[in-house]
Amino acid sequence: MTQVKAVPFPVIKELKFVSLKKISVFIFLLISFLVFSLSIYFMPPSGQRRSVLAGQGRLVWQRYNCQGCHQLYGLGGYLGPDLSNVMSAPNKGEPLVRAFLRAAPPPMPVFRLTEEETEQLIAFLKETDASGSAAPRDFTILPTGMIKKTAR
Ligand code: HEC
Repeated sequence: MTQVKAVPFPVIKELKFVSLKKISVFIFLLISFLVFSLSIYFMPPSGQRRSVLAGQGRLVWQRYNCQGCHQLYGLGGYLGPDLSNVMSAPNKGEPLVRAFLRAAPPPMPVFRLTEEETEQLIAFLKETDASGSAAPRDFTILPTGMIKKTAR
């Protein structure tokens, strides 16, 4: 039969040689680390948070593929204009967006959105507008069908 020998736990054995000063520094660093980590963990989120309505609006935006023809922050299709700041643009804003959703001129399709979808989409565009300003670039459509960036 083999005898099981108690193996001394090395840390405990070596603790004797660790000075009290080193242990207190270690404990101080450990507590600082924990306090710092927890403070980050429980920190209230900074910046703008999307409302639920705007979140649903983003889904409407995706469902009808508005991005296929419009850009947000310069990204998207180029058939229609950039809509990042359409809500605060002079002579545009909510009435224009509602009008385009109700009866858009070709080539923009007329989407028969429900009242609910319209409100969600409006909320999405409002919050997108409030998140910053994008400088939409102007493009000229060449006779070949290609686009060319217009210098400002
Ligand atoms: C097939 C391409 C296409 C799709 C898809 C499309 N649009 Fe458009 N949209 C256009 C074009 C082109 C114009 C410019 C029409 C004009 O000014 O005569 C436009 C204009 C607009 C305008 C007016 C913008 C301005 O600055 O004058 C708004 C608002 C708009 N679209 C919203 C939307 C929304 C919201 C969706 C998705 C539900 C959408 N569009 C989907 C092509 C599209």
